Amino acid sequence: MRTQDTIYLKDYAASPYRIVSADLDFRITEADTRVRALLTIEPREDTAAGTPLVLDGNELTLGSIAIDGAPLVLSAYGADASGLTVFEPPLRRFVLETEVTLKPEGNTRLMGLYRSGGTWCTQCEAEGFRRITYYLDRPDNLALFKVRITAPLNVAPVLLSNGNLIDQGDAGEGMHFAVWEDPFPKPSYLFALVAGDLGSITDSFTTASGRKVALAIYCSHGKEDQCLWAMDSLKRSMAWDERRFGREYDLDIFNIVAVSDFNFGAMENKGLNIFNDKLVFAQPESATDADYDGIERVIAHEYFHNWTGNRITCRDWFQLCLKEGLTVYRDQEFTSDERSRPVKRISDVVGLRSGQFPEDGGPLAHPARPDQYSEINNFYTATVYEKGAEIVRMLATLLGEAGFRKGMDLYFERHDGQATTIEAFLAVFAEANDVDLEQFKTWYLQAGTPRLSVSDSYDGASQTYTLKLGQQTQPTPGQPTKQALVLPIKFGLIGPNGSEMSWTGVSGGTVRDDMIVLDTAEAEIRFTGVPNKPVPSLLRGFSAPVNMDTTLSQADQLFLAQHDSDPFNRWQALQDVGMALAVAAIGGTPWSQQAVTALSQAMAETLASETLDDAFKALALNLPAEAQISRTIGKDIDPDRVHMVRAALLKAVFTPLALQLLQTYRKLSSDAPYAPDAASTGRRALRNRLLGLLVSSDAAGAADLAAQQYAGARNMTDRLAALSVSALAWTPDAEALLAHFHTNFAATNPLVLDKWLAVTASVPQDMVIDRMRAVLADPNFPKTNPNRLRSLVGVFSMANPTQFARADGAGFRFVAETVVEIDSINPQVAARLLTGFRVWPMLEEERRAAAKTALLWLETSGSLSRNTADILTRMLA
Ligand code: PHE
Ligand code: ZN
Repeated sequence: MRTQDTIYLKDYAASPYRIVSADLDFRITEADTRVRALLTIEPREDTAAGTPLVLDGNELTLGSIAIDGAPLVLSAYGADASGLTVFEPPLRRFVLETEVTLKPEGNTRLMGLYRSGGTWCTQCEAEGFRRITYYLDRPDNLALFKVRITAPLNVAPVLLSNGNLIDQGDAGEGMHFAVWEDPFPKPSYLFALVAGDLGSITDSFTTASGRKVALAIYCSHGKEDQCLWAMDSLKRSMAWDERRFGREYDLDIFNIVAVSDFNFGAMENKGLNIFNDKLVFAQPESATDADYDGIERVIAHEYFHNWTGNRITCRDWFQLCLKEGLTVYRDQEFTSDERSRPVKRISDVVGLRSGQFPEDGGPLAHPARPDQYSEINNFYTATVYEKGAEIVRMLATLLGEAGFRKGMDLYFERHDGQATTIEAFLAVFAEANDVDLEQFKTWYLQAGTPRLSVSDSYDGASQTYTLKLGQQTQPTPGQPTKQALVLPIKFGLIGPNGSEMSWTGVSGGTVRDDMIVLDTAEAEIRFTGVPNKPVPSLLRGFSAPVNMDTTLSQADQLFLAQHDSDPFNRWQALQDVGMALAVAAIGGTPWSQQAVTALSQAMAETLASETLDDAFKALALNLPAEAQISRTIGKDIDPDRVHMVRAALLKAVFTPLALQLLQTYRKLSSDAPYAPDAASTGRRALRNRLLGLLVSSDAAGAADLAAQQYAGARNMTDRLAALSVSALAWTPDAEALLAHFHTNFAATNPLVLDKWLAVTASVPQDMVIDRMRAVLADPNFPKTNPNRLRSLVGVFSMANPTQFARADGAGFRFVAETVVEIDSINPQVAARLLTGFRVWPMLEEERRAAAKTALLWLETSGSLSRNTADILTRMLA
């Protein structure tokens, strides 16, 4: 394995030259694409004569090169596949002209210019533009782009790039052209080009100041009517950003293009977002409620990037969470405002705990703002995105809504048009609110999930309630010692009658209204004037991304589940009760019947509640996931035991409720046509949750009920839910349902095929690996398509803990072998698939050894890409 050159934040230096404008001319033919670039370049003021100009390039072949129209002699420059150096460029403004030829057809990495289903399209973030032309491919070089595209009219009637269309016409010999100009200077990673034979839907949006923006979504012909939900989501996003943050759209056109082959979810290219088509296409027969949610969220996310990412961008890639954490926070707020805030918060926290916490607690842990990397594509992580969003959320919690908004306003005012840093971001909040955020900044610099410990006592005689809090963060790779963080802990004290208690005095810590701010390793906070012993409700709304150890009794937890005014903590309390029972049983202490009955009753009451909404109930009527239980135990995990104990607990808790579950299930049935609104989605979520509980607790007739629901389903949400509960429990019908689903739904729709692949890969049965091998061995399986691979192999490693971590090592081997094969096609996807191994250090000895064997085999398997080698090195460190 080759050693990686590491790039350090401390080495950041501005480039001695700036590219101020880029005039690009693409000539696209079926055979190849020729790119002629006219780059207007200036030396920086302090650049010395003779300083070479070094441009990035990747797998490029230079055709011709000239400065100010004069071809360069061979001795004046050096060019190879990885870059271009002009040894002594003029020490004044000049125009560098280069010509390269690309082969988009063979570009299976899906970075740079590639073809997806016949359409030419680009992906440039983070470092794809250097695969299109020699350039200063770094986010701090902002340039004006003008793009001319010439292509065959018959295969590419649609020609798109960033900004505004300023010219188009016939180019002779069956070719036509279009010229696009983007009035906003931008870094190269926001460049985009699309050429293809596409259908579209159009609409318009009038901004608050009265500007009419033409909106279009492009897709393959015949899919137009599946783009309506995306368009609706776009318009709502545009209106929300005006309302909530005062941000208007700034161009006359906003285009979205859906493509089938895409490494990530979507990309915020200026004025021309490119989307993975699974995040655009929605119709009730083939998309689930989760798909509708995902589309709304990602459309919003990419749109919001126009201000947080594009107008204000990152100085360097270490600052990635400047745009991503902030934009995820913004899309989360959008969904909260559009739908249910508590339900959104609970779902996001479930996602954070299952996606980010394991990353933060494993071999791939890194700060939200890393200070070194060897492959930037491996840093588009849950930590940068989701923890990044949590950090912004804490900032908003600490400053309050108005204070946060003041900071955001100053951020937009001061940094518009700039490429900036986390320091600059924090500075505007500090300044606008006159606070010191030095210690808060540690959240960006320190990896690992803090553990918050809590104990309390009450002294009736002095009416004093004491809360002892402590925080501790375990070492992570490269960070042996940790500092105390600023933890905003929203809380309440609940009295015996279930209502909030007040206090007359506080000492020993910082308490502001309903928030404790813990910024030391330990604190002992005394509340005086507390007439009765309260039950504390801590970390309301999950106000800080920590693991909290609670010492509450089961009775107190169930009391909270019933009385807490904070819906998040009501949900959390039920989860905690289930978690405690599961963890104890796995450790050899079986649950008492009494404890299980109490949890059953609490679940029954939750289900019967007239005030809680269906979506909340769907989330509450559950036990923590296997992976969540394993993470809580933390070491020597035997996934089979976790699986068995959880299944047994589920049965013990929900079997007594079978009748209520069934009756509620029936009551929730509806003949109304499918609608993706929050209430209808919640109703389906609860109904399908109940079906899942009935099937997994093995209630009489439940398997048949699932088969009936599958057969009678009138939308994909209900059909897929029935299929997947049947498959996970491996009911007698599971096999037939899977086959039926494949033939009747998956075979003709790749996005539905992904659902079949995902269900197939999740089945906790020994045959799963052979089945997946058979799927991959089919010559028609498109190994170049990231969605297909992730649905099968990604889901297997992340969502099938018993089979992935099989003691005989077959699961690890399967993933490792697939990674090697895919690595030669698409390194980014391969590296991502490998991250599923991050659980390995926490497994029991035999499985740990098996995982290590697979990883070591990978190490010797030949030449791995930089992407995959980077993950592997860190995994084994
Ligand atoms: N910037 C994209 C987003 O978060 C993600 C992305 C990264 C897409 C790299 C493609 C390549 O919205
Ligand atoms: Zn983003």
